[in-house]
Amino acid sequence: MGHAAFNSNAYLHHIALNTTQPLELAKFYEKALSIERKPIKGGWVLSGGRRKVLILTNKQNSLRFVGFACQDSNSFKALKRDFMEKGLKTVQDDKSLFDHENFYVIDCDGNKIYFGLTRNKKDQNSNLYAPLQHITFTSENLDNFVDFYVNKLGFKISDKVINKKGELTTCFMRSNQEHHTVACFLSDKSGLDHYSFEAGTWEWIKNWCDHFSKQNIQLIWGPGRHGPGNNLFAFIEDLDGNKIEISAELEIVHDRQPKKWPHEPKTLNLWGNAIMRS
Ligand SMILES: [Fe+2]
Repeated sequence: MGHAAFNSNAYLHHIALNTTQPLELAKFYEKALSIERKPIKGGWVLSGGRRKVLILTNKQNSLRFVGFACQDSNSFKALKRDFMEKGLKTVQDDKSLFDHENFYVIDCDGNKIYFGLTRNKKDQNSNLYAPLQHITFTSENLDNFVDFYVNKLGFKISDKVINKKGELTTCFMRSNQEHHTVACFLSDKSGLDHYSFEAGTWEWIKNWCDHFSKQNIQLIWGPGRHGPGNNLFAFIEDLDGNKIEISAELEIVHDRQPKKWPHEPKTLNLWGNAIMRS
């Protein structure tokens, strides 16, 4: 098995959202994430503090694409070679935020995933700390999703959630030493579940929650602590209902076997109630 994504130390660099209300959503993100918005063809780009979100005009609200950055040119080339050897179709265009080499693949659920290189341009500063860190999908066929991300893209499994019937209901996968850079819930529809910014410490979670309060944005879940990944969390949602997580203390995985967790509310939130997806 190639572990291409893991060997390239890939990290979540940007995400792009389709929306029917681009200006309103861009204004929301400018305030909520405390980052600058700039107009681009077809929408807006918001960037600062290593948080990069593209807002793109569309007839329906959905995830447009995701961009993972590789560590360096050699690992990017090795990753691309590995994907092509595995029969994945790699396509180059200029739609992502990568200004250097990049390509995209379409995953088993139709999600568009870019891999690329960045030139390490200095980002705009922000008064709040929390770089973009992970994305969580839902899938109607989770086993297939995990097979694609592990055996084709080369992620490693960190933790699995299993229900009483022995079925996999959630899987956490990593493309570097962070517990998960991609996760997926079994659901009755495939798409975006949420995406997350890693604030590092409890102190920063508090600062973010105070910031949301000043912006009149209510938390929809948390603060709490997840079982898998052991991270602290607080969730808000944007104007389109996309869920956004501010996380802290996410486990750094130093070689260990994947753990199995029971499918129950406590796995999702060690402290209290949970948003169950199935
Ligand atoms: Fe998350």
